[in-house]
Amino acid sequence: MITTHCTSTQSQTAVFARDVLNGLKQFPKRLPSKYFYDTKGDELFQQIMHMPEYYLMNSELEIFQSQKQDILATIGHTHFDLIELGAGDGYKTKVLLEYFLQEKIHFTYEPIDISANVLEQLEKSLHQRWPSLNVAIQPGDYFKMLHKLSKESARPKLVLFLGANIGNYTPQEARVFLRSIFDELNPGDYLLLGVDLKKDPKVILDAYNDPAGITAAFNLNLLSRINRELGANFEKAQFKHWETYNPVTGATKSYIVSTCDQHVFINALNRSFHFSAWEAMEVELSQKYDLQEINSLAAEAGFIVKKHFTDQQECFVDSLWQKPV
Ligand code: AVJ
Repeated sequence: MITTHCTSTQSQTAVFARDVLNGLKQFPKRLPSKYFYDTKGDELFQQIMHMPEYYLMNSELEIFQSQKQDILATIGHTHFDLIELGAGDGYKTKVLLEYFLQEKIHFTYEPIDISANVLEQLEKSLHQRWPSLNVAIQPGDYFKMLHKLSKESARPKLVLFLGANIGNYTPQEARVFLRSIFDELNPGDYLLLGVDLKKDPKVILDAYNDPAGITAAFNLNLLSRINRELGANFEKAQFKHWETYNPVTGATKSYIVSTCDQHVFINALNRSFHFSAWEAMEVELSQKYDLQEINSLAAEAGFIVKKHFTDQQECFVDSLWQKPV
């Protein structure tokens, strides 16, 4: 057991090192945002989700609370498998789970996540709250698990991909991703996709540039993680967080900017990297779309848009798509 654990940790570190090297060799330099989520990063992310500026959370919660009846009625099934990609702590999904249980829907909740740990905690909290809920956690890669679940059951599926997670992909990557989901579904299956909408640029910027500096700490924590796990010597005080929103393309990008000319040594890569004064690294994309762009994404992946569920202020949409029968 111990050996297996060590091996997997070692290979995870090797993959992390490779990804960091890959990003730092490019121009502009990049660091992959998927590495934000270590213990400290998870904690800061929870704080972000509950800050008043981060409207995405409340908007999607409002959609589920006020439109759960309509969502279920539009799907129209009473027996289905409810699959969620990247479930996290299930905070918003619980609104749907509670309603489906209350409506006596026959369903199994199958959350997929790369982290078995996250899923075990979620399962525990679900069992405590609803002992009768059928939960089958699926630790692993989204597509491998989707593929496995498609083989296992002939019941109709509702796949959830919530919280604007699609925004971390470029529109081109999003097309490939959505097509891959489409390929794993049977005709008639549904996808409910959470997407953050284009809106007043000020509102978007504030969500990623909060005055308390929580988002800045979340981004810069990546440098601490590289220091710790890859033996680097980033001086966090010599870097700053910078956020931009392009209202034409909808790209919301966070950067880490070097405030001086400096070298950073990364032991795991056995090399140093030069940063010019004010050189910026790209760290995260949070892509925003409008409803027309979402319609094109759906069509290009082969889906039919059944309905857009938006909050009152039209900040956010949960868009229900179906694979044609
Ligand atoms: C979890 C990817 C949806 O992009 O809005 C929040 C992550 N980054 N604040 C997002 C995030 C900075 C978030 N997603």
